Amino acid sequence: MKPSTRPANPNFSSGPCSKRPGYEISSLNLTTLGRSHRSAPGKKALEKACLETASILDLPTGYRVGIVPASDTGAMEMAMWSLLGARPVDIFYWESFGKGWLTDIEQQLKLDNVRSFSAPYGHLPDLGLADPDHDIVFAWNGTTSGVRVPDGDWISADRGGLTICDATSAVFAMPLPWEKLDVVTFSWQKVLGGEGAHGILILSPRAVERLEHWTPPWPLPKIFRLTKNGKLNEGIFKGSTINTPSMLCVADYLDTLAWVRSLGGQSATIARCRQNLAVIETFVAENSWIDFLAGDPATRSNTSVCLVLELDDERLSAMVRLLDEQGVAHDIGAYRDAPAGLRIWCGATVEKSDLELLMPWLEWAYQHTKEHC
Ligand SMILES: Cc1ncc(COP(=O)(O)O)c(C=O)c1O
Repeated sequence: MKPSTRPANPNFSSGPCSKRPGYEISSLNLTTLGRSHRSAPGKKALEKACLETASILDLPTGYRVGIVPASDTGAMEMAMWSLLGARPVDIFYWESFGKGWLTDIEQQLKLDNVRSFSAPYGHLPDLGLADPDHDIVFAWNGTTSGVRVPDGDWISADRGGLTICDATSAVFAMPLPWEKLDVVTFSWQKVLGGEGAHGILILSPRAVERLEHWTPPWPLPKIFRLTKNGKLNEGIFKGSTINTPSMLCVADYLDTLAWVRSLGGQSATIARCRQNLAVIETFVAENSWIDFLAGDPATRSNTSVCLVLELDDERLSAMVRLLDEQGVAHDIGAYRDAPAGLRIWCGATVEKSDLELLMPWLEWAYQHTKEHC
């Protein structure tokens, strides 16, 4: 039977992700638009974005939050270009974005003291192989496989190396062990449904110490430069961005942060993601033709939920198209490099009620494509 009710919001993309419930572009505070980002109101808005992020995430004392160019990729590459080379590197990857960081390290930075640990889609490599004296690079949540690290227990508390963590699809959705993470990056376009273009770079005091005592042997473009005369450019972490940001994106991000506050903070957004995942878990438990790509439930993402179905690739594409055309679910096909399947975003801006409404449509679209395509 074709369901009669569609999700109120059919946006289940894994990035840019759905805007928050109740989002109205007209209610953004746009007083900074058309002004210099270095004007008093411009700087204040940028600084507020940094301070509010630190406060909501409850970062340890001494951790700095900066706004940098080029979304999560910009933040990660800036960190790797500025920090790597001082020690051997261990990189762990299990999907496309993590593999991209390996390409940067081996083919662009041309580091030779690198150990890489990988696993096929759906699995994690053996994190226990991490050497605490090496720098460790990894993504907390593999957005294209729906596999995340379960915790930070595998990271040594008294490590000598730095941990550089791409947490773009994890921050605000999963608790992170901040004391174990020296560099964390994310983009506004993910769990809070903000905009792309700007990245957030979080540095621990140990990362700052490395920056101030290590000069990489390769050239650093201006937009990657975190130090001035051997000292951290503290301005970046107080709202003096390296180059011109979009104040519209900043206003949008401040709106998302105010929404998080109104819900009760980070614990509320994490709870929303968990409840969203639970809707899909219930559905999968009841239907034998669909399963999680993540082999181990402890590694199951509660943001980018990746599912495999008993359908060939052609029918799967037809199913994804059908749900899109029906106005039920947009952009839920698996990432292009991942195994064919569905990827349904369950981040904080997605309403549980919409996922509940989506589930019977999945069943209908599956049966429909199986029989008619
Ligand atoms: C794990 C991960 N890293 C990096 C990126 C790239 O993010 P951006 O396009 O915001 O730079 C993504 C985007 O989906 C991602 O999921």
